[in-house]
Amino acid sequence: MQQGKEPLKKVIVSGMRPTGKLHLGHYFGVLKNWLKLQEEEKAQKFFFIADWHALTTSYINPENLRKNIENLILDWLSCGLNPEKNILFIQSKVKEHAELYLLFGMITPKSWLELNPTYKDLKYNLLKIHLLKQVFEEKTYPLVEEILKKLDEELTIKDKEKAKKFLREKLSETIVLLLFEGLAESEIFKRLNIDKKLLYQIDTYGFFGYPVLQAADILIYKGTHIPVGEDQLPHIELSREIARRFNRLYGPTFPEPAPLLTESPKVVGIDGRKMSKSYNNAIYLSDSEETVREKVRKMITDPQRVRKTDPGRPEICAVFTLHKLFTDISQLKEIEENCKKGKIGCVECKNILSKNINQFLQPIRERRNYYLKNKEELWQIFEEGSKKARERAKETIEEVREKLNTF
Ligand code: TRP
Ligand code: SF4
Repeated sequence: MQQGKEPLKKVIVSGMRPTGKLHLGHYFGVLKNWLKLQEEEKAQKFFFIADWHALTTSYINPENLRKNIENLILDWLSCGLNPEKNILFIQSKVKEHAELYLLFGMITPKSWLELNPTYKDLKYNLLKIHLLKQVFEEKTYPLVEEILKKLDEELTIKDKEKAKKFLREKLSETIVLLLFEGLAESEIFKRLNIDKKLLYQIDTYGFFGYPVLQAADILIYKGTHIPVGEDQLPHIELSREIARRFNRLYGPTFPEPAPLLTESPKVVGIDGRKMSKSYNNAIYLSDSEETVREKVRKMITDPQRVRKTDPGRPEICAVFTLHKLFTDISQLKEIEENCKKGKIGCVECKNILSKNINQFLQPIRERRNYYLKNKEELWQIFEEGSKKARERAKETIEEVREKLNTF
């Protein structure tokens, strides 16, 4: 039987929620790293689609879930994630995750979850959305005044106009402040006139237990290295705590998984902000050549440049920031110099960029088209991956059942 005591084997585990198509930000932030990891021959690698996790926030409209899963599979396979090198699977096809999640629930103190910053953040973010909506609809004026009063007292911002601006920009921080000042949530809701129904949408047991399910995802494979973004660090920490507590209670069973953070370049969207679905500024891996050209064409460049002969400032130009990811170093240098000297027009510069992005996307598109035509194969890959994952998961769950005397 496998025990936590034996020399640690490298087991890489990571997942993604199927919530929509992937863009270049996901590629450079996550997938590129997975593609590198898949070449580590000595490590076991599990990559899965966290469909149960997606349901924690979108259980009201599950009708898109299958489609979203299929699209994520398409994105993964077209990028070159290889079923021969990794176990690729779907979380809900491995019911053992759910059993371990349930049993972990027995040993996880509520306070660990309440303190989880991600849980708090998401709650505050929802609050923020509500508030911003209200600000936009100009229904919050009394509320703004109210917080302003508070700010006047607490932060001594005397200039009211400045404070209002500050407030609108820093709305979320303001709310957090209010919360930390010890006002009861219910009191805040009342004061802010917040539609509780929407908040209830994530104020569920399932959402609260999100990190426990994530711990089960990881520990069911005795994961040791978890490639994730920084936002996931508290979740990994919680997995470690659960592993420690389990080991202490029932004897060595689980390794303590460590996060695997990797440097990733900043990917800006077509408006110069961080590339993100919610900013509506993303270039998707599934975009057509034409769409890429169109999106790049619309990008804002150095606003001081009116004519081609005006010297440009590549360092403040989003087109140039993207060039850094897709354009080879010699061409990049050339563009930089020519832009500064006013020797290249933005139209030409953009044409080069879209050409290079399209070149980058070319093999990805080819694989996508292949799987679009062979959807059975696509599902088959994940069926087989899930079967392999199940076999591994069964070993762990047997061991856990034995320790807890369940069946
Ligand atoms: N919570 C992760 C995210 O939103 C997804 C995820 C679920 C995950 N289970 C996991 C990541 C296990 C790593 C390991 O990105
Ligand atoms: Fe930006 Fe290129 Fe125009 Fe320079 S030439 S401002 S880098 S788009």
